[in-house]
Amino acid sequence: MLGHPKPIPMTSCSSGPLNGTAVIPGDKSVSHRSLILGALSIGETKISGLLLGQDVLDTARAMSSFGAEVTDHGAGNWTVSGVGVGGFSEPEDVINCGNAGTGVRLIMGAMSTSPINATFTGDASLRSRPMGRITDPLELFGAKSYGRLEGLLPLTMVGARDAMGVTYISPHPSAQIKSAVLLAGLNAMGETTLIEPEKTRDHSERMLRGFGADIETVKSAEGFAITLQGRPELIAQDIAVPCDPSSAAFPVCAALIVEGSEVTLPNICLNPTRAGLFTTLVEMGADIKFLNEREEGGEPVADLQVKASSLIGIEVPFDRAPSMIDEYPILSVVAAFASGKTIMRGIKELRVKECDRIDAMARGLEAMGVTVEEGEDYLIVHGQDGEVEGGGIAQTYLDHRIAMSFLCMGLAAKKPVTVDDGHAIETSFPIFKELMTKLGASIS
Ligand code: S3P
Repeated sequence: MLGHPKPIPMTSCSSGPLNGTAVIPGDKSVSHRSLILGALSIGETKISGLLLGQDVLDTARAMSSFGAEVTDHGAGNWTVSGVGVGGFSEPEDVINCGNAGTGVRLIMGAMSTSPINATFTGDASLRSRPMGRITDPLELFGAKSYGRLEGLLPLTMVGARDAMGVTYISPHPSAQIKSAVLLAGLNAMGETTLIEPEKTRDHSERMLRGFGADIETVKSAEGFAITLQGRPELIAQDIAVPCDPSSAAFPVCAALIVEGSEVTLPNICLNPTRAGLFTTLVEMGADIKFLNEREEGGEPVADLQVKASSLIGIEVPFDRAPSMIDEYPILSVVAAFASGKTIMRGIKELRVKECDRIDAMARGLEAMGVTVEEGEDYLIVHGQDGEVEGGGIAQTYLDHRIAMSFLCMGLAAKKPVTVDDGHAIETSFPIFKELMTKLGASIS
């Protein structure tokens, strides 16, 4: 996916109630990690429920390029025969990670402490995203990177030979930085400690532990210190990928704003480091029930039952941001239908996602007749009490979540909502249109 010559405009229109059961695809973060850790372990990892989004398929292809045997058995069942920690071989060609920031950043981490070189690239969105936040800590291990404009893709990483563990205080609350450092630490001698200022999604820690690594998290004055012992032997695992809460967010929020809706979503990952949106929606007055709460594959999951609700704007606590960082675009759509203002602060990380999401949401909401206030690290949406005009075109900048957010808006707005390009939806939620249509949404 090196740029999309032909944009795919999509339009959604006012729809009747959304009803039924929505089976959400596998979690993107867990899918990337299961392929990468499978590739770094000994034996055959069996993965069920892998997300078949383009981002994850690009990671699967990359793992083959580094020497793992990755096999698609159909219906989300995959196996990965790993090469073991330190066993990556040098890829013969450029690694194209498409649109996937998580894919490229985690893979750079994983290869950076092996004595091999690899060149990474991606689509126009990924080529504009900062990589210095990853290459800076990887250089502490002795890796070298040569990127365009000193830190953009395409970028060549020269892996370190005989790396030693490092201690790194992450300047940003980012699970991608944390995971890249921990994956680099796997093939380094001694301990690697990553200190994060706020707790971010912890799938890497959970999965590393599951594969047999010695890893522990301690709360410290600076935040959370995660320490990994280097050079473990990782042992292949069976992984059942839970359903993606970030994808579930779209049908959940659409059901909340489309009058008369009632939707059930089984098996949604409710890891506390991911579930901030649901807490926020409940505080806004959403009728969401969490049924059959249980643990599957090391992750807490539940079945969600959602009914259309009248919502009230709130101020989202800024320290909740890491646990809902990908959900602010769809929350700002919900906020437009609420009464009163919804204030979202501490969200400057949104400026370096697949696009500048604060700007993309602000401009798109304005195009739909919604008043917003925007600053470097905040967005305030003035709720229209259920009466959103719509009728505009939202620019999506190759960003799947911006596209899906505005398509959800159109289902409850007075006039249809168009997005300039829905192409990127396939990166994370390839069955979005089909699933939403089955529930009763009108999307063309
Ligand atoms: C992800 C981490 C988050 C998130 C991304 C997935 C991950 O990025 O936005 O969609 O799987 O580690 P940051 O770590 O940059 O916040």
